[in-house]
Amino acid sequence: MSASAPVDLRNWIRDIPDFPKPGIQFKDITPLLGHAEAFRTSIDLLEAEFRHKGIEVIAAAEARGFIFGAPLAMKMNAGFVPIRKPGKLPYATIAQEYALEYGNDRLEVHSDALAPGRRVLLIDDVLATGGTMCACRDLVRSTGADLVACAFVIELSFLGGRSKLEPCEIFSLVTY
Ligand code: PRP
Repeated sequence: MSASAPVDLRNWIRDIPDFPKPGIQFKDITPLLGHAEAFRTSIDLLEAEFRHKGIEVIAAAEARGFIFGAPLAMKMNAGFVPIRKPGKLPYATIAQEYALEYGNDRLEVHSDALAPGRRVLLIDDVLATGGTMCACRDLVRSTGADLVACAFVIELSFLGGRSKLEPCEIFSLVTY
């Protein structure tokens, strides 16, 4: 993260041991969200990184991706496209399966939400194993839209998600 940032976002991300299950150290962003300057800083830093890249649409997966995606879209004068868990979107959808630790899950986007050539930035709170963002990437690409980059507030580098997404451009505010 930039040394000139007015707030060190790490100070507003706390570790929760053994959540959601034993052995997992969860990165809790709720202190960051609850602190006006820290939350605003996260959006400002993302906007600064991508402001000259011609982003037309921010797309994000529920639920925590929405928290950062919607204000970033407003600040970038971009549209917002929700990527949702199965059965939540009312119109025709396209879907992408992805692997969880045990079993599979699926993400969906409206079939008319993106179009060939649209310049899309994908955003999420955390890059962990990369399964969620790989599914989002594949959904965006299947529409013919132009995926400019994948951006995260937090990257858990020891889980190797980055290597699954490359060569797509990846940007993270805080890396552990
Ligand atoms: C979390 C997080 C990311 C994803 C990262 O979402 O918000 O979307 O996991 O993990 P991955 O890189 O291993 O895919 P979760 O599926 O818990 O859903 P939520 O945001 O609705 O809590």
